[in-house]
Amino acid sequence: MRRRTTPESTPTHRAWNADLVGLGFGGDYNPEQWPQDVRLEDLELMREAGVNVLSVAIFSWATIEPREGELDWTWLDETMDRLHSAGIRVALATATASPPPWLTRKHPEILPRLADGTVLHQGGRQSYAVTHPVHRDYALRMTTRIAERYRDHPALALWHVDNEIGCHVPRDFSDAAAADFRRWLADRYGSVDALNEAWGTAFWSQRYGSFDDVLPPLSAPTFANPTQQLDFDRFSSDALLDYYLDLRDTLREITPRVPVTTNLMATAHSKGMDYFSWAPELDVVANDHYTMAADPERHVDLAFSADLTRGVAGGEPWILMEHSTSAVNWQPRNTPKVPGEMLRNSLQHVARGSDAVMFFQWRQSKAGAEKFHSAMVPHAGRDSDVWRDVVTLGRALRALGEVRGSRVRSRAALVVDWPSWWGSELDSHPSQHLRYMDQVQAWYRALWRLGVTTDLVPAGADLDAYDLVVLPTTYVVSDADAARVAAAAERGATVVVTYFSGIVDPRDHVRLGGYPGAFRDLLGVRTEEFWPLQEGETVRVTGKAVGGDAVADLWTEKSRAADGTEVVAAYADGALAGRPAVTRREVGSGRAWYVATRLDEAGLGALAEQLVAEAGVAADVPAPAGVEVVRRWSQDGATSWLFAINHTAADAALGTDGTLVTGTELLTGDAVDGVLAVPAGAVRVVRVN
Ligand code: GLA
Repeated sequence: MRRRTTPESTPTHRAWNADLVGLGFGGDYNPEQWPQDVRLEDLELMREAGVNVLSVAIFSWATIEPREGELDWTWLDETMDRLHSAGIRVALATATASPPPWLTRKHPEILPRLADGTVLHQGGRQSYAVTHPVHRDYALRMTTRIAERYRDHPALALWHVDNEIGCHVPRDFSDAAAADFRRWLADRYGSVDALNEAWGTAFWSQRYGSFDDVLPPLSAPTFANPTQQLDFDRFSSDALLDYYLDLRDTLREITPRVPVTTNLMATAHSKGMDYFSWAPELDVVANDHYTMAADPERHVDLAFSADLTRGVAGGEPWILMEHSTSAVNWQPRNTPKVPGEMLRNSLQHVARGSDAVMFFQWRQSKAGAEKFHSAMVPHAGRDSDVWRDVVTLGRALRALGEVRGSRVRSRAALVVDWPSWWGSELDSHPSQHLRYMDQVQAWYRALWRLGVTTDLVPAGADLDAYDLVVLPTTYVVSDADAARVAAAAERGATVVVTYFSGIVDPRDHVRLGGYPGAFRDLLGVRTEEFWPLQEGETVRVTGKAVGGDAVADLWTEKSRAADGTEVVAAYADGALAGRPAVTRREVGSGRAWYVATRLDEAGLGALAEQLVAEAGVAADVPAPAGVEVVRRWSQDGATSWLFAINHTAADAALGTDGTLVTGTELLTGDAVDGVLAVPAGAVRVVRVN
């Protein structure tokens, strides 16, 4: 594995959008699927919609190199030239997202493998072992060729490395991966004795005499060693990143002034890659997000993904590289978006920090596995609602050009920690039904409902700027990170820690003396035993902290509050009746709360409301339920843009309570004088005076 680039050696490059007027607008463009007349029509339609940036050549390896060493650049040369004459900027891909059939036939050893040995063959996409040296050589060769061919092309604005790296194969168990895993472990631990200590191999006769004996956690008769599993998660995220780094550095050598990115999947469903560790290596963070048609609250999941992307980007503006105009093709039932939903989705991403709105894909394919996935130009053609909506969106994004480069500000932080996601869901635990992201998203949703804009930050984040800090199920925690959380409370923040947090150190060794180990003193709570509930079992929780009476399920704990810790809600029935469920303790100038159970929505909502009030982070412009309000600020803080997105079927108004919204609404051009009307399903963006 390669060494990461230090910030000092990062080359200076141009901003990806230096030549754009306003926000980016476009999508994946796959002209290789179409004949000339369609490609010519594409240009007319792109002009009509106001497209200004396209991702090109993502899945083009087999088109460019149909047989080994035989290269056909005609269509790509033509595409680059045409897009340039149309004034469209290109995010040019390395074409490596899927190896061509001749490569996997010649080198079947590059195919990835599952834990049970199943080989993932060619015929779909992404059938390569990310660590295999033969694949790496071929991928680097293709990257070099593309970079050398288009290095001086005036359309080139950004490099798009591979595609959604790790999407289909987040964990590869091939021999190549095993060899790389051993090297990674040798690097991490230095000696096999240190590995034995970290993995606790005195247990079950697992002691290793040499790194050569170590394997990935392959299918085994029973639970594989948990630290081995956790380290394999860490390794796999690093291995996927390493692949990106190799391609990126090749691009940087040839075109040092062109920024490089890859499209992440920073969502609640993407457990494989620890994007907080990836982001420093991207010149601009790009993200893909798809709403789940079956989820009535999919706009909240969207907001979560957008905020996670902004967190990964360290607060900088980012690129929405893909979403869909309407239905996708990979969910069990692919219902289209309802009228207005695509515009709301798009501007929600912009409200939360994106400087571009892009789609998969420009033109809906007529063949292949994604032919029933919507696109900007649908099968129905121009005479369609989807196309009219695309044109409307293009107009909206031009009207919002001045927002570009501005930042979202927040004083509430929710910690998202990939090692805790991996660690808390390992097998052989108190409950197999604990889902890390359920808990993170439950807290996110509660804050969203209260109109609080939340930053999603890593466990090692600087917490100085936050008055409310929530750590849901932060299972793995280092001493340093725990100390930073305690310091935030001391300095005046309201800190909230939830169940199964602070349990282990980074080696997955339990912190002894009572749970929640690393946070026990801060919270003034000591838990003797976890008390997970059976499927369908609930307990009642009573106390002012949960709004009087709430229901909890999944998880409870046999805890005791220390002197000076207030029990603000307790179990009212069940095996732990009378024991603390929610506690609060004054710490320095702040407070530390513990929530030892999974509260229902009403209970969590009532609790969140008190926490938000205590921390003083309530929304500055209150809005009716279902109307989302977010603000972006110019870097000097002199101007702000207030986005109001009405997700409901009822007209709404902001500012009626006396908070007053005054300024100019950018989508209609109307002056706003105190009260902002936001019609049902509509979006309004006000440059605030
Ligand atoms: C991902 C991929 C695209 C496409 C879409 C479909 O985001 O990057 O190539 O497959 O999914 O939703």
